[in-house]
Amino acid sequence: MANVRGEFSSRIGFILAAAGSAVGLGNIWGFPTQTANNGGAAFVLVYLILAFSLAYPAFMAELLIGRYGQANAVTSLQKLSRTLFQKRFAFIVGFGGIIFASLILSFYGILAGRMMSFAIEPITQIAGLDAISGWVVTDSLIRNLFFTASFMFLTLYIIRKGVKEGIEKWSSRLMPLLIGLLICLIVYVFTLEGASVGLNAYLNPDFTRTLDPNLIISALGQAFFSLSIGTSTMVIYGSYISKKENLISLGAQVTLIDVSIAFLAGLLIIPAMYVAQAQGVAIFAEDGSLISGSNVVFVVLPSLFSSMGAVGSIVAFTFFVLMTIAALTSSISMLETPVSYVVERHNMERKKASMIIGGVIFIISAAIISNVEVLLGLVITIATEYGQPIIAMLACIFVGWIWHRNEILKELQQGNDDVENSFFWKVWPWYVKFICPTAIALVFIHYLNT
Ligand code: PFF
Repeated sequence: MANVRGEFSSRIGFILAAAGSAVGLGNIWGFPTQTANNGGAAFVLVYLILAFSLAYPAFMAELLIGRYGQANAVTSLQKLSRTLFQKRFAFIVGFGGIIFASLILSFYGILAGRMMSFAIEPITQIAGLDAISGWVVTDSLIRNLFFTASFMFLTLYIIRKGVKEGIEKWSSRLMPLLIGLLICLIVYVFTLEGASVGLNAYLNPDFTRTLDPNLIISALGQAFFSLSIGTSTMVIYGSYISKKENLISLGAQVTLIDVSIAFLAGLLIIPAMYVAQAQGVAIFAEDGSLISGSNVVFVVLPSLFSSMGAVGSIVAFTFFVLMTIAALTSSISMLETPVSYVVERHNMERKKASMIIGGVIFIISAAIISNVEVLLGLVITIATEYGQPIIAMLACIFVGWIWHRNEILKELQQGNDDVENSFFWKVWPWYVKFICPTAIALVFIHYLNT
């Protein structure tokens, strides 16, 4: 029975699954690191504004395409197309998103595997397994392969089970746990010396920096990555939403959760950086930049945890389990994107499709691991800096210029009778037609120029 389509069984199931996709390493690792690198609170402010004013409209465009099409990304987009040219365009957008989701998973799996290894290291230490403990955190080829494979295996295990039993069930369990763990850690860090200086840097913006073009562009890129836009992922999640649901409010809630968790993660990690600095770990250079750059979470936090004595092992374990959980609810959404395409377009059995695609993605990960220095950065750049903005821009163009306004309205009216008079309907169609594509094009042009 390859072609029975799944559907999220409840509203909360969808919210948790989509928020699970959105919330990941981008929020808990990327956002705080970017915040620390870009003037603290000024970046937070710009990020918040852009997430709601630009990323949310693009996110809604993708959800809406999926809910209308009730199919994988390519089929959904093709259902909106009338001419042969539009159908080809639809294929490029849908399939392009699927390719970039797969590429993102190939490097995401490596980073998430590292998270897993850092979660296991404190356990091996407590158990007195020194040899294993050393191996677990050494940056070796075998270790990276082993943990990437373990993480991919977990992702596959969930995806093989399908929408209700796999994605929805696990996201519903893991997301509340993640939020709970995050709050406990924040409370803990606030009790430590130096945290209040960090809190001030995080919440007190230097308004002059908010107009810095580099800061604006980084914040926009971060918001797109964080909401999983431009990967066909939200098209496929949208296709599993029942026609009875109010899409506008569902999308807004997911955006709100995503942004709030990024905000919470900053509330934990920025003060933690200052705590570490107060304890003598060199984190900031004299000019205020991060000494270990984007590695801050991998390098600095373990040293902070280890300086906490016995409690530190528990904190380290909790923190990295949290990171692994966040990564897992994102990776299942990335794998679902190509899997649903192959299941529906090539009539392949779900388990078989998951195994084959998971295997191919792992081979790409293994290739990256074989030359991390060069390939990791390259794949991240191709997929997130070029791929995501281009596909998101094309999806907005599709909705704004190809899909008929009346049909969009009809789709939005399912599950929401009052759309026509809403603020959303007055503003959003213009946004996706003009502002989103233009803004994304500007980001893209910036990347080409740097
Ligand atoms: N939104 C995820 C994060 O912030 O970590 C990353 C992500 C998930 C990107 C799914 C793309 C995607 F399709």
